[in-house]
Amino acid sequence: MDRKKFIAVAAGTVGLAGIVGYSVSDKKNYIRSDRAGEPGKTPLSPDERSILYLASLAPSGHNTQPWFVKYIEPFHWIVGNDKTKWLDGVDPTQRETMLSIGAFLQNLDYAAGNMGYDCDFVLLAASNEEENVVEVRLLKSSIRIYDIDKIKQRRTVRSDFKNDVLKKEDVKFLISNDAEYIHFIPNTSDQCQWLREQTIEANRIQSYRDAAQKELSEWIRFSSKDAEKYHDGLTTAGMEIDGVAGWFLRNFYGKADVMKKRFRDQSIDKVSSQVAQSAGWILITSKDDSVQSLLETGKCMERLFLSVREKNIAIHPMTQILEEAVTSQKLVRSMELNQPVQFILRVGYLNDYPEPVSLRRPVERFLRF
Ligand SMILES: Cc1cc2nc3c(=O)[nH]c(=O)nc-3n(C[C@H](O)[C@H](O)[C@H](O)COP(=O)(O)O)c2cc1C
Repeated sequence: MDRKKFIAVAAGTVGLAGIVGYSVSDKKNYIRSDRAGEPGKTPLSPDERSILYLASLAPSGHNTQPWFVKYIEPFHWIVGNDKTKWLDGVDPTQRETMLSIGAFLQNLDYAAGNMGYDCDFVLLAASNEEENVVEVRLLKSSIRIYDIDKIKQRRTVRSDFKNDVLKKEDVKFLISNDAEYIHFIPNTSDQCQWLREQTIEANRIQSYRDAAQKELSEWIRFSSKDAEKYHDGLTTAGMEIDGVAGWFLRNFYGKADVMKKRFRDQSIDKVSSQVAQSAGWILITSKDDSVQSLLETGKCMERLFLSVREKNIAIHPMTQILEEAVTSQKLVRSMELNQPVQFILRVGYLNDYPEPVSLRRPVERFLRF
């Protein structure tokens, strides 16, 4: 969004609100740390609850958090795929759903290990649509130390990337653990330029595809009231719209505005300015498109995502090229990779790393018992 335009319109609206007596009460972006209240009643022990909360800090498309956990007995659960969170408009094959569940499993494994549990995972799903995805048993073992703050502090960043080239040692750090699947494309290369242009193109197509835009409108939590009610989706804070612009959106915007030309065009402009800033891109590929491979790729992405903050490197998943048929077909030809691409991530150094703000549903809301 264009801040100057918002401030001008917002200032006018304040005047109008004063005259006609509107209540403009939604003063502050609602963020993760605003959540108050005691945990609800569940059969979970404190360790189990803590492990599942940390797992839920995983990223997901539109922040739908498409997982549930079926409680069978202590330390024995099924991690499932929640159909009510599917994004049919941009992810009709539930590919991204499985990637997000993979990220959830990676967090779960790190959190459990750090509390002294080994995880035994058994794959149950043969397709991306099946409800029961993985059976998990936690077995008391020796501690596998993992810095849990990395999970708590990870976040998607979308603004203010520097254009500095990534240092050689940082590229090595990012790709070395999963070199077969993680591919770095520096901002000096032709391929980087291609990804910039095609990301804009894919966003243009998607912004004017009503099914995708309508779906997006369902997942934007403009008001703090909605944010607090649902604890998911994209909030003004998550979209990095602060100050007067954020206040304006919270008080005066709703689903219907997302379908207007002005909103669609401003989103495309925003993407154009975002892709102009980066150290390059990371593509993550997978062995194939099986459920197992998608879960593994989600885990791989999450290991990478958790490792970048200490290097002051931001990650912004920009998946539209993969979501639009025209651009995804071109990608296969242009990138000369002999494996399917599952993630397209814009990366870059930051001056200041912002705190995580995206919301999560409390554990009791995704636990079935
Ligand atoms: C599979 C997947 C696809 C995503 N696609 C996009 C995207 O196209 N654009 C974007 O801005 N963020 C994208 N994200 C990031 C999510 O919006 C983000 O993870 C979510 O809002 C939660 O925020 P957090 O990562 O800061 O916790 C994607 C994340 C995942 C896991």
